[in-house]
Amino acid sequence: MGFREHLENIDKQGILKKVDVEVSKTLEISGILKGMEPTPVLFNKVKESNFRVVGNLFCTKDAISSYFGVNPAELIPMLSRAIKERSDPEIVSSAPCQEVVETSVDLDTIPILYHCEKDGGNYISSAVVVTRDPDLGQNMDFHRAMQFSKEKFATRIVAGRHFHQFLKKNGEVEVAFCIGNPPNILIAGATSVEAGVDELTIANALEPIKTIKAKSVDLTIPAEAEFVLEGRVYIEEKHSEGPFVDLTETYDVIREEPVFEVKKVTHRKNAIWQALLPGALEHKILMGMPREPTIFTKVNEMGVKCLDVNVNPGGCSWLHAIVQIDKNSEEDGKKAIAGAFAGHGSCKHIFIVDKDINIYDPLSVEWAMATRFQGDTKMIVKDKEPGSSLDPSAEPGTKMTTKIGFDLTKPIVAKGKSYDLAEFPKVNLDKYFS
Ligand SMILES: Cc1cc2nc3c(=O)[nH]c(=O)nc-3n(C[C@H](O)[C@H](O)[C@H](O)COP(=O)(O)O)c2cc1C
Repeated sequence: MGFREHLENIDKQGILKKVDVEVSKTLEISGILKGMEPTPVLFNKVKESNFRVVGNLFCTKDAISSYFGVNPAELIPMLSRAIKERSDPEIVSSAPCQEVVETSVDLDTIPILYHCEKDGGNYISSAVVVTRDPDLGQNMDFHRAMQFSKEKFATRIVAGRHFHQFLKKNGEVEVAFCIGNPPNILIAGATSVEAGVDELTIANALEPIKTIKAKSVDLTIPAEAEFVLEGRVYIEEKHSEGPFVDLTETYDVIREEPVFEVKKVTHRKNAIWQALLPGALEHKILMGMPREPTIFTKVNEMGVKCLDVNVNPGGCSWLHAIVQIDKNSEEDGKKAIAGAFAGHGSCKHIFIVDKDINIYDPLSVEWAMATRFQGDTKMIVKDKEPGSSLDPSAEPGTKMTTKIGFDLTKPIVAKGKSYDLAEFPKVNLDKYFS
């Protein structure tokens, strides 16, 4: 469908709200988006820019699954399939993202948002970043970028990311920050697969896309992006980056990060800037959802029938995973814990539940913990392992953390009381109350 058609669709359905009064990119648009979350909002008049801004587009699994025309339950198999059955996108010679090629670079003309008061500056948070290594080929992932001049950003590149590997090897790397993308491209950018896989092939397997050669760098980019910022990132040239809100909704620290120098800006006519609130629902969905298929696959590889996985927002869509299994042997809970940690190395707490538990309802999961769990026999504690650098409670600097797996499944054969929820009669209430 694409980004533009999606906007038209949700507008026709009355889902997209519009703000016609003038709003500021500084500490105003972000506040409105947060207050309206998860409703998508289009800002037609931005004080500091001629471009419009849209945000809150894909805050829920429902919003993403309805884009693809599937049920939320079909997302995990769909993404697993796309990772396995990647396909090359069509390359075209003219594209909407290059309708306008700016002759000079002035980032102040673009509505790059200043989100929260303690932020270090205006931040790009929705860009998928395309890079290339001479041997491995293209990569696409996400990197936030803090503007500090009319043509430069400091961009956060976590050690170990493929882009970081490219940068360490080559010293400087050509990049294209692409903003204004549909969920197939966003989800593909957030997926971690082996180095050398161009995530655009995953995006194309989710929904066919067109790509085009960038104007000033040797990269193939999504043809229908709203904006493309082309340039170079240097490992030796660093600038302070932060503070900025991260996935846990807490402030990340200030670090010296590589500089991204923008050399060329291209965009659609009447381009619309895609906002993505840091730490908010959309950020969480995009981070957590691509880990669900990897957990699903690893649990099944342990010989346990995995039914569903929720890397839930209450666990920052990163640090917790709730895994639903069809338990067939007493060992299944513990095997599933091992599989889930193998499928998502940054996860801190794993909860394994039976098929009668609703993994999308925190009360249902807590009920399983209250009635089916014993700490001495059904808890696996993995003392001090590398976890997530995002977790404020992990050891600073080393990200060492204690991981715990909770087996909240009932025994195959109950020895005492029944473990099952009692059922009340189902009645048609309309018969009794008008
Ligand atoms: C909205 C969003 C923002 C992100 N921001 C960053 C970031 O600033 N720096 C970073 O290194 N990773 C960031 N990530 C995570 C990576 O992009 C993601 O884990 C990706 O899969 C890594 O790709 P790779 O396996 O090709 O290295 C972000 C992810 C999302 C969804």
